[in-house]
Amino acid sequence: MERQKESNVQQKKGRRVILFPLPLQGHINPMLQLASILYSKGFSITIIHTNFNSPNPSNYPHFSFNSISESLWESEVSTEDTISLLTVLNDKCVVPFQDCLAKLISNGDQEEPVACLITDAIWHFAQTVADTLRLPRIVLRTSSISSFLAFSAFQILLEKGYLAEQVSFSSDSQLEKPVTELPPLRVKDIPIIVTHDTRNFHQLISAVVSKTKACSGLIWNSFEDLEQTELTRLHKDFPIPMFPIGPFHKYCLASSSSLLSQDPSCISWLDKQAAKSVMYVSFGSIVIVNVTEFLEIAWGLANSRVPFLWVVRPGLVPGVEWLEPLPKGFLEMLDGRGHIVKWAPQQEVLAHPAVGGFWTHNGWNSTLESICEGVPMICQPCFGDQLVNARYASHVWRVGLHLERKFERREIETAIRRVTVEAEGQEMRERIMHLKEKLELSLLEAGSSYQSLERLVDHILSF
Ligand code: UDX
Repeated sequence: MERQKESNVQQKKGRRVILFPLPLQGHINPMLQLASILYSKGFSITIIHTNFNSPNPSNYPHFSFNSISESLWESEVSTEDTISLLTVLNDKCVVPFQDCLAKLISNGDQEEPVACLITDAIWHFAQTVADTLRLPRIVLRTSSISSFLAFSAFQILLEKGYLAEQVSFSSDSQLEKPVTELPPLRVKDIPIIVTHDTRNFHQLISAVVSKTKACSGLIWNSFEDLEQTELTRLHKDFPIPMFPIGPFHKYCLASSSSLLSQDPSCISWLDKQAAKSVMYVSFGSIVIVNVTEFLEIAWGLANSRVPFLWVVRPGLVPGVEWLEPLPKGFLEMLDGRGHIVKWAPQQEVLAHPAVGGFWTHNGWNSTLESICEGVPMICQPCFGDQLVNARYASHVWRVGLHLERKFERREIETAIRRVTVEAEGQEMRERIMHLKEKLELSLLEAGSSYQSLERLVDHILSF
């Protein structure tokens, strides 16, 4: 048995996989985690990356890194209009990426032969490049299967008028209407992203969906027990091999791919708090709020009388450096009950015994990290896949309390107490602990994620 395992590892050595992450924090983390997982399975790893938001190669001495020059204008690098940024990136990366990839493949005699290319799903142009170079392309979709199912139904949603209803901010009753084609979503859960030109958004989604259909395999940072129904539904439309091998970060921490430095004071502050007493608050790396919303969040937290750890990322409030909008004396008034940082070691924070709840925007990584640590959520989605993730967390898995897009201090205060202090929060905790157990089982040898990873390794070796 052992000898067989050894010979499998030997067999796997000698093949190289090239990975191309999308340069946004929520996408870089899972792609580099996947790279580490494949490295541990015996593959050699090459990362191609943009200059914009480039990862730090010194954190990965065993990988080889190749940067491409996408030449973004300064006005183009903002994440305030993500769709514009992604559209420009897909356009500007074609030539430098193709040149870089062609060079890497032709270097074959010095290095191990390249087995395949793995790119983020958003890099739709990469399918044509891979086809031209006759290299199999596997796609990593970094978000939930449920949200991809919704994106892949966009054409139908557009034709049936659902998208117009959501964008025009119709009456509450219209927004509450179920999307019969995509249960359990309501009109307001459709994952739209506001951008200055809606056509760019629809074109991007349509290209991502059609080029994903043309790829040689699809990897998910999710696990079967969580999204089995959605996986089965999606598979009907995407008859390609699927590999739900998540959660990736259970194999390795994301700290090494963090673009911002994580403030270690979070942990020493948490060490002084009572078990399950703290509300951890973070809206990820892209969400922005205005000054009024920022102040509602601050007062909601203060008035809840619950201890809190709040990540205020520089740029969370555009045009403001950091905490300037807080009223004078606000921090002193908290008397140590609140701790505010620019960026936290999130996975360590969520695993800390003092954390009792997570007020999140439901980016997929945050949602999954919360499930992994059994922490119930306050779900406050802002755009895109977050809307779907929040609906599933609150309505399907019933491990979170859904807040609407508006930030209102009284509502916030009540929600924080419901999750951290009241029986309702305790029930959510029990349900999320049950999910956590299922997730841990999926990673064991007979588990679904473990088995999917074995299939993925075989699939790559078959090229
Ligand atoms: C983006 C999209 O907004 C999200 O909807 C999509 O699912 C992925 O891409 P982001 O908003 O950054 O991601 O959220 P999320 O997916 O939650 O990823 C954030 C990552 O940053 C997580 O891995 C989290 O652990 C990490 N993080 C966050 C930190 O390390 N420190 C922090 O203080 C906050």
